[in-house]
Amino acid sequence: MAHTIPRVARVFVTRRLVGDALQRLHAAGHEVDVWPGTEPPPQAQLVERTAQADALLCTLSDRIDDAFLAACAHLKAIANYAVGLDNIDLAAARRHGIPVGNTPDVLTDATADIAFALLLATARRLPQSAQAVADGRWGTWQPSGFLGADLVGATLGIVGAGRIGEAVAKRAAGFDMRVLTTTSRGGTPLDTLLAQSDFVSLHVPLTPVTHHLIDAAALQRMKPTAILINTARGRVIDQQALIDALHAGTIAGAGLDVTDPEPLPPDHPLLQAPNVLVLPHVGSATTRTRATMSELAVDNVLAGLAGRPLPHPAPTPPSTPTAAAS
Ligand code: DGY
Repeated sequence: MAHTIPRVARVFVTRRLVGDALQRLHAAGHEVDVWPGTEPPPQAQLVERTAQADALLCTLSDRIDDAFLAACAHLKAIANYAVGLDNIDLAAARRHGIPVGNTPDVLTDATADIAFALLLATARRLPQSAQAVADGRWGTWQPSGFLGADLVGATLGIVGAGRIGEAVAKRAAGFDMRVLTTTSRGGTPLDTLLAQSDFVSLHVPLTPVTHHLIDAAALQRMKPTAILINTARGRVIDQQALIDALHAGTIAGAGLDVTDPEPLPPDHPLLQAPNVLVLPHVGSATTRTRATMSELAVDNVLAGLAGRPLPHPAPTPPSTPTAAAS
């Protein structure tokens, strides 16, 4: 059934955004309802506020499931303020005829930078070294103090070489690293990549097939000196298996921008595991990147409300485990 296009529409935005992109919604004459909290709206509020809106601009912490979509089937657009879409039941959105968009490309470099920052920080043990300084344990310069791993000549395995994976590979080339990739189109088989890599960096979208892609068996295939980097989604790793592997010395460390759950409670056992550096999902967190993400999300909302195809539509779901993340 064709949607009617409101002349003046209402848009529910589930968090305050960076930049002034929302001004374009006001300028187009639309009403904008911005959730005032820093926490996501509780699910009941999310449904209630969206039920009164024509379009939704949401973030990766909002759960847009089948029940939500059934209650809000009148929506003319859902604009996710993220490239990842695992918080949205895309199949259900298609069934309800609701166009869904995301924010691809614009966060590629910022996220690749964070992957590389995690790689450098874990390789050179920056958190442990900085903590020693802060604790007054600096001591005399020691030949064997805070030894880390070299990047030059080391092998970096990139799992899911989409845009972000490719941007990480570009950075690795500047450090004279050898790069292996596994993608939906082929490349190095995952088992070989895990066995040969000194660093493994994950760049796959979270889907039913990539859920726990890195499980106990995968960790077992890695070198005991290897470091695992994850800037994709927490649930791509079986987190309990990772905690066990770090304690057992199956791998040497992990640098994680994403966890399961988020936020991670301060007493979570992952934070007690050796050689783990956890960041609070800051891959895209630069002022310019987040402001540009706002612009793309607003582009999607304006198009949806005007009955036009979204300029940044959700990609067709990948059919293979190692499809690109962005
Ligand atoms: C995304 O966009 O999917 C990132 O994880 C957050 O910016």
